[in-house]
Amino acid sequence: MLKDKVAVIYGAGGAIGGAVARAFASEGARVFLAGHHRPSVDAVADDIVSAGGCAEPATIDALDERAVDRHLQYVAGRAGRLDISFNAVGIRKPEALGVALVELDAEQFSLPITTYTKSNFLTARLAARRMVPNKSGVIMTVTTLHSRTGLPLVGGLGPAMAAVEALTRDLSAELAPHGIRVVGLRPQAMPETVTIREAYERRAKASGLTWDQFHGALASTTHPRRLMTLAEMANVAAFVASGKASGMTGTTVNLTMGSLDD
Ligand SMILES: NC(=O)c1ccc[n+]([C@@H]2O[C@H](COP(=O)([O-])OP(=O)(O)OC[C@H]3O[C@@H](n4cnc5c(N)ncnc54)[C@H](OP(=O)(O)O)[C@@H]3O)[C@@H](O)[C@H]2O)c1
Repeated sequence: MLKDKVAVIYGAGGAIGGAVARAFASEGARVFLAGHHRPSVDAVADDIVSAGGCAEPATIDALDERAVDRHLQYVAGRAGRLDISFNAVGIRKPEALGVALVELDAEQFSLPITTYTKSNFLTARLAARRMVPNKSGVIMTVTTLHSRTGLPLVGGLGPAMAAVEALTRDLSAELAPHGIRVVGLRPQAMPETVTIREAYERRAKASGLTWDQFHGALASTTHPRRLMTLAEMANVAAFVASGKASGMTGTTVNLTMGSLDD
């Protein structure tokens, strides 16, 4: 589906970024992996290369405009163009989770809002500048169901995720006339990821539940009574990034398997 496409994945050393990078590469894309700390990004690149794919790791702070720009300059020099930009950057700050909003420090509340909006804005804007001259490209974001439903003890994550989904729509409104699609993915929670394990454990404890009880309660809210796997999410990402999804822009794909109605 992505033969010879050039993709940059931010947060590529993480659970979602790594799974998406592997899926993009297995569909034929040449992937440039932008990660925060090198060992995890190198591990994803090694996997892809040993499976016969094409991947180049780099250390990039996705909140540093100049670093993102320099890296895209490098990608353009190496590959000649940019087709897909996928932002899977995530901050794990579990200290804000499990704390009631009335008790939460203002800095801790604001951190996800400023981090997610700034990082998605910067990576999308700098990618779009490379895509507009080619009149083609796909920019992708990741959110969670906190964007659309009230949940207790999650700090500023709800406003942060709602803002990223609004940014996804607004970017599309401006960029789709130039041939660039902007689409988000909204998975609920993939229990095999460290992010979810950490987040659930704190929220489970604050709710007086064990991890298994909390996991079971969440799974029971989905129609198939289970949570999604990383591989399932990454397969959707590859489809959305491909030309087969050419009719899709200005939206966030609901991957909550029935937990959240549209
Ligand atoms: N996991 C889930 O089930 C799930 C479900 C729905 C939505 N989401 C959302 O998806 C996103 C990613 O989740 P995840 O589970 O993949 O998290 P993760 O495993 O912690 O991955 C996030 C990655 O982002 C990197 N990162 C953090 N700050 C960065 C920066 N300034 N510049 C570049 N990279 C940076 C981290 O690098 P370092 O670790 O090296 O700092 C890490 O590799 C989050 O927004 C999360 O809320 C996750």
